[in-house]
Amino acid sequence: MTQDELKQAVAREAVLHIVEGAVIGVGSGTTANFFIDELAKVKARIAGAVASSEASAKRLAGHGIQVFDLNDVSDLPVYVDGADEITEQLAMIKGGGGALTREKIVAAAAGKFVCIADASKLVASLGRFPLPVEVIPMARGYVARQLEQLGGQPRERAGFVTDNGNLIIDVSGLSIPDPAGLEERINNVVGVVTNGLFARRPADVLLLGTAQGVRALSRSRA
Ligand code: 5RP
Repeated sequence: MTQDELKQAVAREAVLHIVEGAVIGVGSGTTANFFIDELAKVKARIAGAVASSEASAKRLAGHGIQVFDLNDVSDLPVYVDGADEITEQLAMIKGGGGALTREKIVAAAAGKFVCIADASKLVASLGRFPLPVEVIPMARGYVARQLEQLGGQPRERAGFVTDNGNLIIDVSGLSIPDPAGLEERINNVVGVVTNGLFARRPADVLLLGTAQGVRALSRSRA
């Protein structure tokens, strides 16, 4: 199976998690795009969607799915999104597409986070994928120096502006034995909007596309 076929398989499986008559949270990226296309086939069963990026909002609207502002939605039972890396504990690095802040907001508001990913995204520990950090433009130099002190090599994503009007610094070379701790530490640097570690609010379910079929992993809640 190709990587796209694996993404399509998990997107199809994720449709089983939609809640009838509810608004659904929808993420960003190529895997999320497959999900949006699957969602279009069952759009009569949902009230609409909240999107984590302008690109996803446009794709949803293109399929005739009503897109809601998160502020107008009081109940969001499910959020479906991809990941750049994910562990068996369901902590993730996200933001390869630069939508990490809105993704983290929609994930925080959602009752259940369903991550959809092909097998290449499953890792023993996070950090091979450069960690995206959304930064207020005037803080770029200061934040980069702080990230260096944490042992990373920061590099500004050239020519990229987020949907929120900010820039992205991608940080390579980080060792991440404690994803939740590092997530908090980086978020505490003044000028950082958020970072792409999703460990304090990890996924609840991972649908992983493998050559043997879709494997489902769940997080046990305390
Ligand atoms: C975008 C994201 C995406 O979920 C992540 O980059 C995975 O993308 P893809 O499904 O294209 O591999 O976090 O900001």
